[in-house]
Amino acid sequence: MNETATLTLNNKAYPLSVIVGTESEKAVDIRNLRNDTGYVTYDEGFGNTGSCQSAVTFIDGEAGILRYRGYPIEQLAEHSSFIETAYLIINGELPTSPQRKRFSQLLTENSPIHSSMEHLFEGFPSDAHPMAILSAMLNSLGSYYPHLATNDHQRDLETYEATSAVIISKVRTIAAYSYRASRGLPYIHPRRDLPYCENFLHMMFSTPYEPYIALPEVAQALNLFLLLHADHEQNCSTSTVRMVASSGANLFASTAAGVCALWGPLHGGANMAVIEMLKSIHAEGDDGTKFIEQAKLGKADKRLMGFGHRVYKHYDPRAKIIKESFYSALASLGIKDDPLLNIAMRLEEAALRDDYFLARKLYPNVDFYSGLIMRAIGIPENMFTVMFAIGRMPGWIANWKEVAANPKGRIYRPCQIYVGANLRDYVPPHRRK
Ligand code: CMC
Repeated sequence: MNETATLTLNNKAYPLSVIVGTESEKAVDIRNLRNDTGYVTYDEGFGNTGSCQSAVTFIDGEAGILRYRGYPIEQLAEHSSFIETAYLIINGELPTSPQRKRFSQLLTENSPIHSSMEHLFEGFPSDAHPMAILSAMLNSLGSYYPHLATNDHQRDLETYEATSAVIISKVRTIAAYSYRASRGLPYIHPRRDLPYCENFLHMMFSTPYEPYIALPEVAQALNLFLLLHADHEQNCSTSTVRMVASSGANLFASTAAGVCALWGPLHGGANMAVIEMLKSIHAEGDDGTKFIEQAKLGKADKRLMGFGHRVYKHYDPRAKIIKESFYSALASLGIKDDPLLNIAMRLEEAALRDDYFLARKLYPNVDFYSGLIMRAIGIPENMFTVMFAIGRMPGWIANWKEVAANPKGRIYRPCQIYVGANLRDYVPPHRRK
């Protein structure tokens, strides 16, 4: 028998059906609530609201489970690569050999950017934040492909394969160019013979006189970093992408909006905030002990960055995986006694046995280690969130498609509870106090 819920308002009962997901998650269906009752629900931060039905990623925060398209993150991290996983997320299935080959070919063909786009980078101030450049450039990219960015979902879906390859490939080139522009360095063009991560590192760090050859452990650490960030259900940036897509906007515009949402320190900016926190602890001569005590006072500006998560209340499975790769990358780079690393390890140790953090289920999240990995690879701090954006792109693309392909889709338009002034008359300037 189908489960139902009953809501009683002013002594009148309203039956509400219950929707059950493929992993037995349950939701009370309130889609007709406003029509039937005149009431809306109130859920600031959306912690109790299912905004959509999605077949991309499953998370069980209590059990520390993360799966892309049904595959456990642990298996993908061990056996797959970022590009294969991107294909899985974007298309729903792991690629066959010909499909994988074709996808790689599309990525290679699309890796250069239009030469006139190079001039756009020059229009930014030299100290512009690479996230500002990335979102502006992604949106601009659509104007180089008007046939892929029609703002007609039906037409944009017909070119989905081509558009996703353009974005996945070029986001890496744009990211590397934004770094080169911010340093006043000449652009290094992509190479056709290098895999995705190695090619990115080449565009970042090669010079016209000397190629940068990535150590296999470094390329692997980057591959894993991107794979672990490839999707994460209805987080702030993915919800933003869906919100923008719901108006009919194209994939370039929707993912550019995702970049903006990712920028904040409580979301993608956290990995950069971790390093800033470690630096400031170091500069104050603290070994982490004083900072932990301050973090326990609950002040927003003294949070232990890289700890806690909205959905993972036991542990973040990505943090477990990335921690191992982190140590192998450090070993291959010969990094042993780094003061920030030592502080990070002390913070982790202290927090994991402190009642404040245990009672609130605050464990290290993926960002605690990913900032340290990026730093070890030589990625500058203001590029950390850009790296996250490159990784999250497959998830944003797949979520855009779910919105665009939903025949019953409606524009996202939440309600509010108005708490402002009541009706009042306009006051002319000379009578204002
Ligand atoms: N350090 C110290 N106290 C904390 C922290 C922290 N990092 N995180 C939460 N708390 C406390 C908070 O003060 C509150 O205490 P109390 O109950 O006494 O008022 C309690 O824990 C619950 O906090 P909350 O803000 O209601 O939790 P939330 O689910 O809204 O926030 C979070 C989740 C990730 C924004 C938060 O834990 C945080 O700010 N962490 C640091 C930033 C960070 O690492 N963000 C990256 C998240 S992972 C990347 C991603 O997947 O997007």
